[in-house]
Amino acid sequence: MQMRQTPYYLYDTELLHRTLEAVQTEIGKYNNYVVHYAIKANANPMLLPIIQRAGLGADCVSGGEIEAAVKAGFHPSKIVFAGVGKSDWEIRTALHNDIFCFNVESEPELEVINQIAAQMRKSAGVCLRVNPEVGAHTHAHITTGTAENKFGIALSEVERVICMAQQMDHIRLRGLHFHIGSQILDMNDFVELAHRINEIQEQLQQKGITFDTINVGGGLGVDYDNPHATPIPDFKSYFAVFHEHLRQRPGQSIHFELGRSIVAQCGSLITRVLYIKQGTGRQFAIVDAGMTELIRPALYGAHHRIESITADPATLQLTSTLPFSTADDDLQTYDVVGPICESTDVFAHNIRLPRLQRGHILAIRSAGAYGETMASQYNLRPLPKSYDLCSTEI
Ligand code: LLP
Repeated sequence: MQMRQTPYYLYDTELLHRTLEAVQTEIGKYNNYVVHYAIKANANPMLLPIIQRAGLGADCVSGGEIEAAVKAGFHPSKIVFAGVGKSDWEIRTALHNDIFCFNVESEPELEVINQIAAQMRKSAGVCLRVNPEVGAHTHAHITTGTAENKFGIALSEVERVICMAQQMDHIRLRGLHFHIGSQILDMNDFVELAHRINEIQEQLQQKGITFDTINVGGGLGVDYDNPHATPIPDFKSYFAVFHEHLRQRPGQSIHFELGRSIVAQCGSLITRVLYIKQGTGRQFAIVDAGMTELIRPALYGAHHRIESITADPATLQLTSTLPFSTADDDLQTYDVVGPICESTDVFAHNIRLPRLQRGHILAIRSAGAYGETMASQYNLRPLPKSYDLCSTEI
């Protein structure tokens, strides 16, 4: 069997199916809970139709993502469009496709959407993104719900912007949108968000303002340390938190925008060891993948579990329960680094792996979210290819 050219992404679509089933089972317990998949996490055309067929909607942040969602079969009535800087063509693309709603982040954006919708003789569904001033306990670069960052409309401004929106002829105000950050594992952060939303809804109700839609954003984290132990995130606790703490008004639908928790664990970045280099006091495993394929370690100091799989997965028995096991117990300590001309191009420092040699294959786990979509062509490298672990096609 031929060896695939590394580096490449390998997706376990069977695990993706099981993850989506778990989501559907949990939301099925509650009334009007709607999940939109955050396409920014992974827009691979092999995965999107699977997610669409499982019944999820799509959360998009660009015109390109709206086009990809429509192409993958997501019904426009299940598409939401967020982002602080929507350009005119992107707004037109969204209106042209009659998406469910724009998550609007500022007053000037609302005005522009109203103007473009008037020109196109359309009515734009809108949720206002409110900055809830809830700090998530996660990496500072992926926290979004606090006053100092660029996202959303300040709490003190919300009522005024709602009144503005209500007076615009081409805006149909559907509700409020929130998002506090990503890779959140402390459920108390979501409890805090739910309580803040209750307060906001109560204050608005006193003024006679109620909404059919509350969108709580995404953010549920995954277990990067032990992907084998927790291949499917704890959706049960996550949705139960909102059921228990968020006061849902009669007829109101609660929307979620999950990205990482849907796709992170089903993807691995497969890379080959090029050289073992003895440095001063350390040993480098130089691999053929770099920050161009997976930037998370370089950008956020993110940890991804690295496993030696010693042979190309294409040559192993193709099964979705592929254990990525180590064949050798002669452990060595390595810094696993990429080939890019940047000192931050490091996947891991001081990790223990079976003795490696040129040609050995490593799997960088939990790379299904914000891996392939954040890949770049820096150093004029080609974008990574991808394969389905569950397909026998080579
Ligand atoms: N909704 C909004 C408004 C968002 O900004 C995001 C993610 C999501 C939903 C999906 O969040 P998730 O369920 O995936 O946590 N590149 C970073 C993550 C950036 C997240 C950006 N926003 C990383 O690799 O960790």
